[in-house]
Amino acid sequence: MPVELLASRPRNSRPVRLVTTTGFAEMALPGEARAWAEANGFSGEAGRLLLVPNPEGGIAEAMFGLGSGQEGALAAGSLAKALPEGDWHFAEEPENAALASLGVALGGYSFTRYGKKPGKAIRFVLPKGADAASIARTAEGVFLARDLINTPTNDLGPAELEEAARKLAKTYKARVTVTAGDALLQANFPMIHAVGRASAEAPRLIDFSWGRKAAPKVTLVGKGVCFDTGGLDIKPASGMLLMKKDMGGAANVLGLASMIMAADIDVRLRVLIPAVENAISGNAFRPGDVLQSRKGLTVEIGNTDAEGRLILADALALADEEAPDLLIDMATLTGAARVALGPDLPPFYTGDDVLAEEIAKASVEVEDPLWRMPLWKPYEAKLSSKIADINNVTTDGFAGSITAALFLQRFVEKAKSWVHFDIFGWNPSDRPHGPAGGEAQAIRALDRVIARRFGK
Ligand code: BES
Ligand code: MN
Ligand code: ZN
Repeated sequence: MPVELLASRPRNSRPVRLVTTTGFAEMALPGEARAWAEANGFSGEAGRLLLVPNPEGGIAEAMFGLGSGQEGALAAGSLAKALPEGDWHFAEEPENAALASLGVALGGYSFTRYGKKPGKAIRFVLPKGADAASIARTAEGVFLARDLINTPTNDLGPAELEEAARKLAKTYKARVTVTAGDALLQANFPMIHAVGRASAEAPRLIDFSWGRKAAPKVTLVGKGVCFDTGGLDIKPASGMLLMKKDMGGAANVLGLASMIMAADIDVRLRVLIPAVENAISGNAFRPGDVLQSRKGLTVEIGNTDAEGRLILADALALADEEAPDLLIDMATLTGAARVALGPDLPPFYTGDDVLAEEIAKASVEVEDPLWRMPLWKPYEAKLSSKIADINNVTTDGFAGSITAALFLQRFVEKAKSWVHFDIFGWNPSDRPHGPAGGEAQAIRALDRVIARRFGK
């Protein structure tokens, strides 16, 4: 059950006291509460919940440990699953009330499509410093991304991903056009077609636009590989197991689009999703093939498992044609990004130092971890091909996330500003603000950057 957020406090609402280990000793507490905490050996350990009884045998209040307090405001998200049913409020306005409340909202998520129970019914009263509408918009975008990633490919192939985009478009009266199957060849998206043609579900390019035509152009491109077998360069079982999440970039850009449209930010938003399944069949593209691309560059296939950059290249080339003010792409692009930074800290790449600063700042403010990595030009030579303009992989295996970003950069020329996110899109284990499974990454930070740049 998602946490229901309340604007005013019902009479029977019970307080939650946020306790740090350092603040516990000096904290003003009712005598019984302190005695109960001491009897239970509670002094604010991170993530620990202590229910304090009242004389009638009910619950007087709850204490929730924040540890040293260094873990950030989203840590309050554990409350969504830990508190007993009923109405709750913060005993005192927390330090970062908006983010702590958002944490509670995000922590209430569960993926229930296949019959798992949604958990307890909790209603949480928003503190003064939290804006209900903003939290609802953010949670909706994050939940959309999580739901799409968590849905397995048998229920979310390219056709269903298109449906999801159409559904979102309908809510906000956006326009959608889709180019699918052989029409991709006529419309000059040869690499989207080549990667997706071996699947039983036709490959497609979803093109979604919203907002005032003359407003600043913000274009989001998301990798929509609904399943990545690796293609003929097939992945081992362990590497394939999680590949339903290879449309995590698409899921995240839809989540971000939802936030932007719900906030009615004055931009001309465009969302491009190349949606394919990297499957194996007699007509699959092969190692050694040379593909034409929309941009005109010829691409030699060194490895069919480096498919994301191919479909993104054609989508980025299209996006670039109208020279958008801001071009953002998101993709579960490389395993190498995880080797470098782990699953919770996605790297981003941009040549725009001002934008990089804005992203880094927003990332810290909203606790949406991101780390800039370099578009290190000297490594571009690793992508050279003896017979084509470029190879889709390097042969030495070094700097895999950087070289993937450099590959994409070849297809972007006119955009005023471009940034690429190599995300993981997945929580390997439960966290306070979200359970193990599909996860939104970078979009809360980007929502803030975009609102600051273009908002009212
Ligand atoms: N979708 C994968 C990357 C990936 C794997 C992301 C695991 C997150 C978790 C991508 O299509 C891929 O297979 N990349 C290859 C590239 C290689 C062949 C150059 C990789 O990272 O191994
Ligand atoms: Mn792959
Ligand atoms: Zn992939």
